[in-house]
Amino acid sequence: MKILFINGVNLNMTGRREKGVYGTQTLDEINADIAAALKGVDCEFYQSNCEGDICTKLHTADCDGIVLNAGAFTHYSYAIRDAIAAISVPVVEVHMSNVFAREQFRHTSVISEVCSGSVVGFGKNSYILAAQSFLLK
Ligand code: DQA
Repeated sequence: MKILFINGVNLNMTGRREKGVYGTQTLDEINADIAAALKGVDCEFYQSNCEGDICTKLHTADCDGIVLNAGAFTHYSYAIRDAIAAISVPVVEVHMSNVFAREQFRHTSVISEVCSGSVVGFGKNSYILAAQSFLLK
């Protein structure tokens, strides 16, 4: 079982930005905790602030499932939405924060419709819960 974790725009700043929302751990530390929690799973981690690069990563993904935190791209990127729709690998949308308890613009996701499911609001555990959905299949 191979799972690709994709983090989008500004997620490289995790641990340094809005610590009250996203916590104090860096993305590398979170990724290490995810890999440790998913023993026996081949985990690949990718982050980019560039919308097109995320589309290319989706197009070329060679794995059983993708866990995607697209960051703010979630709320407006039709390009990422179409890239998800273009591939057959299932994608689960994740957000560390509970986007529905935040600003109105975060309540809209243009990618949810083409994802197999969504996990929001559990901090780094959102990634682990999303990955576990692939193990249940
Ligand atoms: C986020 C929520 C988004 O609204 C925001 O733009 C992010 C992070 C989350 O993980 O909670 O960058 O995707």
